[in-house]
Amino acid sequence: MSEPAKEQGSKTETVARTLLVAFFVSLVCSSLVASAAILLQPRQLANAILDARRNILEVAGLFEPDRDVNQLYESIEPRIVDLATGAYVEDIDPESFDPVEAAKDAELGVEVPADIDLARVRRRAKRALVYLVRKDDEVSKIILPISGYGLWSTMYGFVALEADGNTIADITFYAHGETPGVGDFIAKPAWRALWRDKRVFDESGTPKIEVVKGRVSPGDPMADYRVDGVSGATLTGNGVTKLMQYWLGDHGYGPYLRNIQRGGGT
Ligand SMILES: Cc1cc2nc3c(=O)[nH]c(=O)nc-3n(C[C@H](O)[C@H](O)[C@H](O)COP(=O)(O)O)c2cc1C
Repeated sequence: MSEPAKEQGSKTETVARTLLVAFFVSLVCSSLVASAAILLQPRQLANAILDARRNILEVAGLFEPDRDVNQLYESIEPRIVDLATGAYVEDIDPESFDPVEAAKDAELGVEVPADIDLARVRRRAKRALVYLVRKDDEVSKIILPISGYGLWSTMYGFVALEADGNTIADITFYAHGETPGVGDFIAKPAWRALWRDKRVFDESGTPKIEVVKGRVSPGDPMADYRVDGVSGATLTGNGVTKLMQYWLGDHGYGPYLRNIQRGGGT
């Protein structure tokens, strides 16, 4: 064989070998990644549940850093509420209910009409998971999951109401994509503290709670329903106002909270 032909043959062989090695390396790597994903799935799920429980305990004022989250969570009573009637649903185990999956389901979910979709959720489950805290057998707090769009992202949180179904005990946003140092004030303890003892519903039962632009003025007759906004981040604050007004309104937890206010929420 001539020298150029020999050289050509060995080049082809080198390319084929390189491709073969690359193929096997990628096969091994993808198998490792796939196996890790499958093996870690149960642990990820357990961590997600633990994180949700920690957030619920925190907003309920029951979180203790030195104690086991699952043990503390035993004092929380998850219940399912039919959002249209506001009544508890007894025939579904709250532990097996997934509101995210239910929202996607044609039967279990419902589209939120665009003209009332203040939180920009588009669809929601017909039923919702709520969490009760009891003290001496009486409901002392009601924890409601909330979500809605800010400036850049869907913000997920919980609001804790006192037993009257109107006074805010605490609020938390545990997941959002608002800008660090700008819109992330929603997750800061100092801002959270401003919500304590604010009221949701006015005398007529309309949700009036809102985040204002700038500070709530001391003489404001609506001060009980208003929370300071953050200058330069008004749009995230507006998102919080809208999601609160949607979720606490007639299409959200409104019927349930009216039941609570009438003494029927235990
Ligand atoms: C890079 C960048 C990121 C921003 N992130 C946020 C944000 O997360 N939340 C927010 O409300 N505004 C954010 N803003 C500002 C908004 O565009 C808007 O100017 C502001 O919300 C208006 O509030 P103000 O009327 O109090 O100034 C951001 C602006 C820039 C340039």
